[in-house]
Amino acid sequence: MKWSPFLAALLLLAPACTRPDAAEEAVALSPRAAKGKAMFSTHCAACHAPAAKLVGPPLSEIAGLYRTDPDAIVRWAVNPGRKRTDLPPMPSFRGVRESDLADVAQYIIEAGTAAGKQGP
Ligand code: HEC
Repeated sequence: MKWSPFLAALLLLAPACTRPDAAEEAVALSPRAAKGKAMFSTHCAACHAPAAKLVGPPLSEIAGLYRTDPDAIVRWAVNPGRKRTDLPPMPSFRGVRESDLADVAQYIIEAGTAAGKQGP
C-alpha cells in the first residue's frame, strides 16, 4: 500500500483534533488519576477546570489546599462545606462511591499541581 502525504498528515493531526485542552493532556497521569479523570469528567468538569475558575475554584487552587490530604477532597465532595461566599454552594456527591471519589481526588491533585506550575 502506498501512503499519500495527505493521509500521513491526517493521521498526525487526528489525535490533536480530539484533544481540545492540549495543556491538560500533556500531563502524565498515574493510572489511578487517569481512572479518576473519567469520573471527574462526568461529575465535576461542569464546574471545575484545571486552571480557570468556572462555577467552582480551579484545580490548581484545590491542589494547593489539598496536596497533602487527598482524602479531605473525598470528605468535601460527600459533604461540601461553605467557604467562598462569591460562589454558589457545591452540591453533595454522596451518591458516588467513595473509592471513585478517591480516584477523582488523585486526578485533581495531579492535574491541579501541573496546571499550577504551567500557570493559567
Ligand atoms: C455544580 C457545580 C459543581 C460541581 C459539579 C462540583 N463542584 Fe466542587 N465546588 C463548586 C463550588 C461553587 C465550590 C466553592 C464552594 C465554596 O467555597 O463555598 C466548589 C469547591 C470545591 C472544592 C474546594 C474545597 C475547599 O476546601 O476549598 C473541592 C475540593 C471540590 N469542589 C471538589 C469537587 C469534586 C471532587 C467534584 C466532583 C465529584 C466537584 N467539586 C463538583 C461547584 C461544583
